[in-house]
Amino acid sequence: MYSSKIKGLGKYVPENIVTNKDLSEIMDTSDEWIQERTGIKERRHIKKGDGNSCAKMGVKAAKIAIERAEIDKDDIDLIVFATLSPDYYFPGSGVIVQDVLGIETCPAIDVRNQCSGFIYAISVADQFIKTGMYKNVLVIGSENHSGGLDMTTRGRNVSVIFGDGAGAAVLSRSEDDSKILSTHLHSQGQYSKELSLIGPSTQHWVPEIIAENPQENIPYYPYMDGQLVFKHAVVRFSEVINEGLDANDLKKEDINLLIPHQANLRISQFIQKKFQLSDDRVYNNIQRYGNTTAASIPIALTEAWEEGKVKKGDVIVLAAFGSGFTWGSCILKW
Ligand code: COA
Repeated sequence: MYSSKIKGLGKYVPENIVTNKDLSEIMDTSDEWIQERTGIKERRHIKKGDGNSCAKMGVKAAKIAIERAEIDKDDIDLIVFATLSPDYYFPGSGVIVQDVLGIETCPAIDVRNQCSGFIYAISVADQFIKTGMYKNVLVIGSENHSGGLDMTTRGRNVSVIFGDGAGAAVLSRSEDDSKILSTHLHSQGQYSKELSLIGPSTQHWVPEIIAENPQENIPYYPYMDGQLVFKHAVVRFSEVINEGLDANDLKKEDINLLIPHQANLRISQFIQKKFQLSDDRVYNNIQRYGNTTAASIPIALTEAWEEGKVKKGDVIVLAAFGSGFTWGSCILKW
């Protein structure tokens, strides 16, 4: 059996910075409330006409990752694209990436696992490389949240949290001892509606939405039971990190760097405390980007690597929890 490793990383965020103060001018919120509850100071939003889309941001991140991996785009055997905000209902965004990158044909899979999307996507890529079927897999997490948020006071508990951006990783067959050690994935559909966007969908088409003429809780905007999500997140993050550590005979002291999905700074701080990790062993950047869902881990991993915080031989732990509910972890030796 082969092993896979991350050979190249890249990220892209739109230039347009939206501060908490900017949001307080269009809805009833405040910098103080947002920072105290989430740690977020600002996030990036696509600006109409700036040429970005979910897939196109993914392409920009992917180009950097491919260059750093020192491979050619035509060496890519598979694209795995994770998002909850695809360019189209169908087809998936992976095929758009394949086209814009100029790869004539290659398989492209879209993964729809929201905040856990990048962990799921890494796991899919890892399996294909382990079996020997593919050598180089391009994994992308990208989100264009701003296009679909309720930017009024009605939607403030959700819309202040989320931001746009993309991260990418090239996974390649490993020729040395750096490798993905394990991935663990979970879901619990019992809570599928607690963090969701119900319509338009095959269960809820636009005419029905209009006929119902809802004044509140409009189903074509995201819905979130924030407190329920918080309660489950702190439990599942801990469980799935421990599951990964146990599977590899590792202890919390062996973690060189934990990169939690950037859901909320308070959730990250809770996990940090639980695993008794010093500040330099946990990477957070939610303060600058908000929650970018499937893009948050690859953006954070790329920045940590660019800042020299990821070193050869380090044990890196990636973990996520989100809509579904879904959750997962990935432990790798750099
Ligand atoms: N600005 C100002 N006030 C806001 C607000 C905002 N953006 N959003 C909600 N409020 C108000 C509420 O209306 C409520 O007012 P009330 O007391 O008059 O009814 C009050 O703030 C408290 O709301 P509540 O929802 O209880 O706040 P909270 O402490 O649970 O914080 C979250 C809300 C969303 C920040 C928090 O629940 C959370 O972080 N949950 C996890 C979310 C998450 O991680 N999601 C991504 C998963 S991957």
